Amino acid sequence: MFEKLETPEEVFTFKLGATLTMEKQLVDVLGELDEQAQRSEIKQALREHRVETRRHVANIERCFKLLGEEIDDSPCGAIEGIAKEGKATIKKTDESLLDAVILSAAVEAEHHEIAVYETLIIHAQARGASEVAALLNQNLEQEKHALQTARSATEKIAAEGIKVVAVA
Ligand SMILES: [Fe+2]
Ligand SMILES: [Fe+2]
Repeated sequence: MFEKLETPEEVFTFKLGATLTMEKQLVDVLGELDEQAQRSEIKQALREHRVETRRHVANIERCFKLLGEEIDDSPCGAIEGIAKEGKATIKKTDESLLDAVILSAAVEAEHHEIAVYETLIIHAQARGASEVAALLNQNLEQEKHALQTARSATEKIAAEGIKVVAVA
């Protein structure tokens, strides 16, 4: 890992390494969320995105190769924080409400991933690394799709919750 980042290229490599750490952590987190989720459609969506997330890891490893850089394992405190908060909330939440908590963590994580990729892509394009930008863009598009899926499921659950409250 770098002691000090002194060039734009080093900053890019460092951030790419943090993104790799993020995606590797998310493979584990998505597996854990799948185990906790109650509704089958949410389990299915988490499983599908876990498969995509494994591909995100592979795409980033390929980016390092294309740049001729060694794979760097920079830490990713942001996703650790989102996962930590999600797990703590899950722990204290009644089973009947778990899906809403899981979806909230998913939406938060996807927003973070989207922000990370948008920035990396700008820098990759600026330095003329078009193949790298294209690979990162593949990841970005899947994050956007995953966000949309989690958002739609959240809307459905939120509406169901209101109905239950209205009847009670
Ligand atoms: Fe991802
Ligand atoms: Fe994602």
